Amino acid sequence: MGLTKIQVTLNIYVTSFERWIQDTITTLYTIKWRQVEKENVVSIEDSMLPEIIRIQSEGFGTKSRNGVKRYSKRMKKIFYVIKSYDQVVGYCIYYLKPILSLNGFKKKSVIYSISIDMNFRRKHYGEKLLKESIKEMRLNGISSIILYVNTENLPAIRLYEKMGFRKIKEIKDICGPKETCYEMELRIL
Ligand SMILES: CC(C)(COP(=O)(O)OP(=O)(O)OC[C@H]1O[C@@H](n2cnc3c(N)ncnc32)[C@H](O)[C@@H]1OP(=O)(O)O)[C@@H](O)C(=O)NCCC(=O)NCCS
Repeated sequence: MGLTKIQVTLNIYVTSFERWIQDTITTLYTIKWRQVEKENVVSIEDSMLPEIIRIQSEGFGTKSRNGVKRYSKRMKKIFYVIKSYDQVVGYCIYYLKPILSLNGFKKKSVIYSISIDMNFRRKHYGEKLLKESIKEMRLNGISSIILYVNTENLPAIRLYEKMGFRKIKEIKDICGPKETCYEMELRIL
């Protein structure tokens, strides 16, 4: 096996291991997750998956379903779906991670993905979805919410800034090769 092939194989194992750690931490943190009454926002159900996958590929031009499926199985309670009457019109997926600070461990949440159906954009569904899910994050002792957004994605940046998120730093190559993202954070506790 060539050196590059070994490197690629190793990277795959490391990524899978990191993903496993992340999933396990989120699963443990959400065992006693307290859910609140949310207006038009519910947790994912399997029957909603085809619509969610459609909205995801519409929003990001990608057909990768693995992330969405994985989160919908293991982190149902923090996979939020927004509806208009009975129609699924958007979603926001979080995962949780512990951060070591001077006062011990703090729980932070990270937005893995958020998207609204093209026909329902600019109608405040994205804002509503974030407001309702953040309410529940606060109730469950999450100290802040982090996200990564492409520096050119102005609609999303405007939405996050309206919600009170602040730009923390620029990071290259994590949103995609040769792309730059902002890390943004909203402190809620
Ligand atoms: C980003 C996204 C989720 C916003 O959802 P949305 O439901 O259309 O947004 P809302 O209607 O709730 O907008 C709330 C605020 O965000 C800002 N905003 C949203 N879309 C905007 C746009 N196209 N241009 C400028 N500002 C915009 C505005 O400040 C708006 O408030 P206002 O209408 O009172 O001015 C949606 O555009 C989307 O799904 N994009 C594709 C996927 C994506 O990029 N996800 C983010 C990845 S990090």
